[in-house]
Amino acid sequence: MRYFEDLTPSTGAREPRAWLRSSRSRISLNGRWDFKLWGRAPEGVPAVGGDWGSIEVPGHWVLQGHDRPRYTNTAFPFPIHPPYAPDANPTGDHVRWFSLPEDWPVDGAVLRFEGVDSAFKVWVNGVEAGTAKGSRLPSEFDVGALLRPGRNVLAVRVHQWSSGSYLEDQDMWWLPGIFRDVTLLARPLIDDVFVHASYDHVTGGGSLTVETVPGAVIRVPELGIVTEPGVPVEITAVEPWSAEVPRLYDATVEVPGETVELRIGFRTVAMVHGVFTANGRPLFFRGVNRHEHDERRGRALSVEAMRQDLVLMKQHNINAVRTAHYPPHPAFLDLCDELGLWVIDECDIETHGFIYTDWRGNPADDPDWAPMMLDRMRRMVERDKNHPSVVIWSLANESDRGQNFGVLASWTRERDPSRAVFYERDRTYEFSDFYSLMYPPLEDLEAIGTRTEDVTTEDSSLEARRRALPFILAEYAHAMGNGPGGLADYQRVLERYPRLQGGFVWEWIDHGLLLPAATDHVYGGDFGERLHGTNFCIDGLLFPDRTPSPGLAEYKKVLESVRITGLLTIENHRTFAGTDDLEFLWSVTSDGIEVASGHLDVPNILPGTSTQLEPPPLTVLPPQTARPSSPSDVERVLTVRAVLAKDTAWANAGHEVAWSQFVLEQPELAPASSGLPVVQSGDVLRLGGGEFDRNTGRLTHLYGQQVDGPQLDLWRAPTDNDNGQGGRNGVTQEWRAAGLDRLLHRVDGVDVTDNGLVVRTRVAPEGLGVGVRTTYRWTAYDDNLQLTVDVQPEGEWSGTAVTPRCTSWPRLGVRLQVPSGLENVLWYGGGPGEAYADSHCAARVGRFQHTVDELQTPYVVPQENGARTDVRWAELTDAEGNGLRVTGAPHFQLTARRWTTEDLEAARHRSDLTPRDHIYLNLDLAQSGLGSASCGPPTRDPLEIAPYTFSLTFTPIGGKSVDN
Ligand code: GAL
Repeated sequence: MRYFEDLTPSTGAREPRAWLRSSRSRISLNGRWDFKLWGRAPEGVPAVGGDWGSIEVPGHWVLQGHDRPRYTNTAFPFPIHPPYAPDANPTGDHVRWFSLPEDWPVDGAVLRFEGVDSAFKVWVNGVEAGTAKGSRLPSEFDVGALLRPGRNVLAVRVHQWSSGSYLEDQDMWWLPGIFRDVTLLARPLIDDVFVHASYDHVTGGGSLTVETVPGAVIRVPELGIVTEPGVPVEITAVEPWSAEVPRLYDATVEVPGETVELRIGFRTVAMVHGVFTANGRPLFFRGVNRHEHDERRGRALSVEAMRQDLVLMKQHNINAVRTAHYPPHPAFLDLCDELGLWVIDECDIETHGFIYTDWRGNPADDPDWAPMMLDRMRRMVERDKNHPSVVIWSLANESDRGQNFGVLASWTRERDPSRAVFYERDRTYEFSDFYSLMYPPLEDLEAIGTRTEDVTTEDSSLEARRRALPFILAEYAHAMGNGPGGLADYQRVLERYPRLQGGFVWEWIDHGLLLPAATDHVYGGDFGERLHGTNFCIDGLLFPDRTPSPGLAEYKKVLESVRITGLLTIENHRTFAGTDDLEFLWSVTSDGIEVASGHLDVPNILPGTSTQLEPPPLTVLPPQTARPSSPSDVERVLTVRAVLAKDTAWANAGHEVAWSQFVLEQPELAPASSGLPVVQSGDVLRLGGGEFDRNTGRLTHLYGQQVDGPQLDLWRAPTDNDNGQGGRNGVTQEWRAAGLDRLLHRVDGVDVTDNGLVVRTRVAPEGLGVGVRTTYRWTAYDDNLQLTVDVQPEGEWSGTAVTPRCTSWPRLGVRLQVPSGLENVLWYGGGPGEAYADSHCAARVGRFQHTVDELQTPYVVPQENGARTDVRWAELTDAEGNGLRVTGAPHFQLTARRWTTEDLEAARHRSDLTPRDHIYLNLDLAQSGLGSASCGPPTRDPLEIAPYTFSLTFTPIGGKSVDN
């Protein structure tokens, strides 16, 4: 059997060990390598010849113009016949010449690969050094005897498919290559180091034992420690490490000829009466699942990108990361130690594609595969064992139940009893210290919180054990496309029950890839391939270029661990830290314009406690400050914000960590003055600043601007979450079945009345009996033109034996087409970002200004986006400042685009959207919520089908209104 198909994890590889920063000589072999891609595995030693090209290492050849990337969610893109690879097995030969410096130590050398996808063989100067599998794990080979002074040549043959691929069916792009660093190390004298640094929360002391080579000297200068291997040192007072206060102590391990630098964090995690604790306190994860992804480099991430990920997480109140679904680049964990995040480190194992054999042949349950799986676990644990940030070892993702997990769990518990073990997909949870699920509906989460959940296993003793376990929500809130909705609901439940120790949103970043010279991100199916996972991996809180999405802004708000409530209580929901790193600021706005501001005097609030402040803002608030002309139309809002008082490693002073708003005074509705009459000339009806078509009742001009509409609109370009997963739990299908995407408008009457104009219509889909009576009542007073829309559903919307059932509407409002020049949008209401019924916590009331182009949220796959909610009024103006204002009663939702909803719906990539000659406004009373049904339960916030009435008032801006 060929080495890349057998069940031997590696040949010639060294024992796994910790990732260490050593003073020994090293040569980075990253850079330009000679490269040749074969369609199938060749024989012989790679030899650079005529048609070879070159490639950047670390990197994936499929992102550098050789072959192409492939995306599948669960399916193996080759026949399931373990452990065999298909004949068509793209194989990349990589060759690199390098010179050894004169002073290179002669006592041996180690060649280290941090990650090669998926199996490879190494030759040094034409002699085989070894083979390895396990894409996201390090491998080392002793190559001292193979090196020669001066120039040497290294050849690496990398096979895309191997027996290892059966263990690597994560939902992500298949990206072969040498995608992490390659380094030649002088043979380590300090082979391995295992730091045991604990913290005693009762005494405030710590204990340190460092296992390493005999004779080494261990120093922690700051603590005055000089000690030897294996000897416990008790420290009477030490500052503990936590994600909130990531205190690290520099340390060294020394032998003659080598110094290893360590950063030690003292902390103790423990399971106490069914609660997972750190330093004596229950932990609560505000987490994300993170894949390694860069839009151009795939999983060959730069350290800057890793830091950027973590800085963004910290800035968005995230305190935990699950390294879904493989160990990350080792530098990432150093950064987690430094910046402060709790980490679930997950092994590189997922056999998900065996769902297509009904789990027959699942390696996880086949003892022949135990060595391959254990090898992966050992390489992860040994590599990452010194990181205080890592508190949980995860055995795998979505690989069903399997006896091999027992092997992995036992070995891990014995090797490192200081951490907990996690595995979600075995419903007995026999090998896991946690109960866990993915994407449960809220009711199920509540039941788990109250320990009233359904039985998960028939085995009564395992069932009893599971019921006593704490719960972690491994994945929820599928952030695919526009969404997720419902974050606040989940957070509320997660925080309510002590058994629920937090959750991890799926997922951190969209996996959109930019191929060389491309401008649009690709996803599954873009290459015409038959088997693919469409855009299911475009489901992150960051866009592929690491720009935060509205979902991340929402998550930040929902996660706030300092809460400003009532008038005025400040609650500290942190676990370890007080609030003395924060400064509290207040301001009062009048119709969105700041009229007063100041500081709040807040004492240090201890974790888990709260403080009621004398409401200083109210007493110092200027009673009737800066009121414009009419006092009745002013809304006064108090905003209180908590910001960082000093610069930190992840944000500067002034960075906002929490905020709240309180409406102090609401505007009274101005009584309408008496209405103006309608004036008819030919086919034109004039009312106030509006001109209407006598036959259709449609508004054609408004304050001299050519317009068309406003017309009832119930449709939106379906989001990924509207569509559901394979149609499951989604609403798009029923919306289409009810014809909401093809409504026809019939005019039943255009009546001039004493009060203005009444246009009666019926809006309905062809072929069905359902419809919506829609009446538009227009009145005019002063410069204002007011529209009241009355909506009455008719017919069997809830379905009959023969007609489709429709339970919600995507949106309810009107669509109005205005000239393309009205592109400057100033609004007073929710902002600055988009918001929806179940994702609006991050929208604060204020005055915001964007161009129409800036109002668009650039989802990789175009879909409904960009709505601003709770809009009191919005002004659209052209370059000269002329235009119109729309005021809503009640508040409305505003969407403005240069394309229609139909254009948006038809587009598959952003470049499919071409601006038209108009701007299309949607002025909505409401829209359905977003939910996260693309992988999860149906949305909890559908827009009910019911009668509605709402009003919009138009007022001219700039130029004179048209005379009536
Ligand atoms: C989970 C899985 C993830 C991802 C997600 C949906 O079941 O663990 O890898 O596929 O669903 O995007």
